[in-house]
Amino acid sequence: MLDFIEQFWLQKARSALRVPAETPTEEVLEKIRPCVAELSDLFTVARPEKFRDYMSDTRLLAAYGLFFFPQSFARADFAVRRLLGFYGRSPENTDKTLSILDLGSGASPCGLALAGALQERFPQADIELTAVDRSRAALDAVPLPGKTRIKLKTECADLRNFAGTQHAFDFIVLGWSLNEIIPATAPDAVEKALVFLKKLANSLKPTGTLLILEPALKETTERLQCVSDYFARTPGLPFHRLAPELGNHEDPLLAEGGISWNHEVRRWTAPASLEFINRKLFREIQVLKFSWCALGKTPSALAVESDKMPALLRLISPMEMTKTALRFSAVDAVGAKKNVEIPVRGLSKSECKKMAAAWERGDIASVAGELTPLGTPSCFRLAGTLEKIL
Ligand SMILES: C[S@@+](CC[C@H](N)C(=O)[O-])C[C@H]1O[C@@H](n2cnc3c(N)ncnc32)[C@H](O)[C@@H]1O
Repeated sequence: MLDFIEQFWLQKARSALRVPAETPTEEVLEKIRPCVAELSDLFTVARPEKFRDYMSDTRLLAAYGLFFFPQSFARADFAVRRLLGFYGRSPENTDKTLSILDLGSGASPCGLALAGALQERFPQADIELTAVDRSRAALDAVPLPGKTRIKLKTECADLRNFAGTQHAFDFIVLGWSLNEIIPATAPDAVEKALVFLKKLANSLKPTGTLLILEPALKETTERLQCVSDYFARTPGLPFHRLAPELGNHEDPLLAEGGISWNHEVRRWTAPASLEFINRKLFREIQVLKFSWCALGKTPSALAVESDKMPALLRLISPMEMTKTALRFSAVDAVGAKKNVEIPVRGLSKSECKKMAAAWERGDIASVAGELTPLGTPSCFRLAGTLEKIL
């Protein structure tokens, strides 16, 4: 699928740049690079209320397809696999049609990632993907392979007036669109987001999942966390929080006043075209950073037995190496933050480096061993091991 997508966007870039079909790929990528830089600035520096329909510019659309589409796809793919796996979310009737609504879809990288993961897990199911965006140009550029069991519908609409649909979906995804329709820095940003999200409950099946993915910036992440904590405090009204926390608790990082914020940092292998474009842009593309939250009208069964929950921690920092210990911060299933050190006496520097590199922010660890409190509040020493839960 990813090879097909890369070729698809290269073709779009050639026609947007009006260069002959035989133009070497590197020349096409050189030419599209300034458009990637323009979009990148728009997403990170511009005021969100200034977002125009950038997808209607064919060059910007191709730039988005080559640089941002694969990143959105990979992030959504990570989140949905986590949901179906560790968080135990399962749609009903997995042998029939599974339906996905992608809101603010662009060319629907998130919808396609969900479709791909669902097809892999439930091979007998057909997939119906409905993509909604204000940009007709983006909707016309959904890269769907010729031979596929994914049925695509598109709807050009302004999400700010979107009152939901008559149909109830198995998945609704908002991929980096919530902050465009309701800027995270707007007055009453949390309340407005809650009003918008609650309306989507009518369009979600009882076993369905509403997946929200947002940039890992402090303001977008903290707004999403406030929304997510609201549903953790009021389960079932109308949503339960499903992920990424381990339990129905408020986020301790928010209470600390925002020195650090809850997001994922995931290594991945970027497509060759994206990597080439970045050679002169120097964006951080080795890792995917994002924040996310999954909601559902019914709770789901975690893939771990409840008596194992107290031993689980979710990392909210990287694993850092000092001369004497590995250190990380994590939150447990009841929302307690724990700063943990693991003594590394007797281990070589390269062994420690390898151990540290094996862990990423957002990972879930099962602790085998004793966590002994140190003098300082929330600080513990682990005599034992950590096992990664996938
Ligand atoms: C950052 S892009 C994300 C696109 C895609 N979901 C992804 O993950 O790559 C935000 C998308 O939201 C769309 N959008 C912004 N405001 C909108 C609105 N008021 N109504 C519908 N779509 C909107 C934009 O056209 C764009 O496609």
